[in-house]
Amino acid sequence: MEPLIQLTNVTKRYQSGTQTVTALQSCSLSIHAGEFICITGRSGSGKSTLINLMGGLDRATSGQVCVGGMDLGRLHEDELARWRRTQVGVLFQFFHLLPSLTALENVLFPMTLGPLRGSAARQAHARALLAAVGLTEQAHAFPSELSGGQQQRVALARALANTPPLLLADEPTGNLDSTTAADIQQLFATTAQQGSTVVLATHDPDLVQHASRVLTLADGQIAAG
Ligand SMILES: Nc1ncnc2c1ncn2[C@@H]1O[C@H](COP(=O)(O)OP(=O)(O)OP(=O)(O)O)[C@@H](O)[C@H]1O
Ligand SMILES: [Mg+2]
Repeated sequence: MEPLIQLTNVTKRYQSGTQTVTALQSCSLSIHAGEFICITGRSGSGKSTLINLMGGLDRATSGQVCVGGMDLGRLHEDELARWRRTQVGVLFQFFHLLPSLTALENVLFPMTLGPLRGSAARQAHARALLAAVGLTEQAHAFPSELSGGQQQRVALARALANTPPLLLADEPTGNLDSTTAADIQQLFATTAQQGSTVVLATHDPDLVQHASRVLTLADGQIAAG
């Protein structure tokens, strides 16, 4: 079977002032549909850069990033944005919810650009997602009225709103206490069991335990995995 994600000789350099930083150096890797991958490595090793490239949030300096048979480097900005909306869900360390929208409205928001048609169908799907993350009661609460763990659960429901084949997350438990982090870990494991491909960058050893494969980065290169 074709891998879902295929990176071939990917290098990413950032220009900051007169300095060039090589964040990833000639990385090649394949990830198959249904895998639950954790990316680990020291601070600055390139984890976030790798997640951003896989999600089409940033572009490689050289090499090829293919996801679901799509060569992301060949897509124009608007094509990339359209691809992103339906093919990937992304979760960050700081939940990035829209503060003026309720939990339910935050989950509904990406659906306006997704494949599901009709307000009633979207409402039902958003409520089912909130129920799946244990937030039925909080549907009408604003982010400021929710705990950090609850906000991250809303962010997870939102990332899954358009049923993306790929869920990416960057330090999703980095800002949570250990009990809430455990809930989120379980939700990722469930998401993977239900057939989504999950790729997480994390320092959290408990989260790594759930992975089907661990990739370790060192100085912008894949050192293990
Ligand atoms: N926008 C940017 N501009 C300049 N340099 C950057 C930029 N983003 C990342 N870098 C550099 O690229 C390297 C890899 O960064 P990256 O954020 O991918 O590491 P990381 O493994 O996610 O680290 P952390 O564990 O601290 O989140 C680092 O040296 C970093 O300073
Ligand atoms: Mg990072």
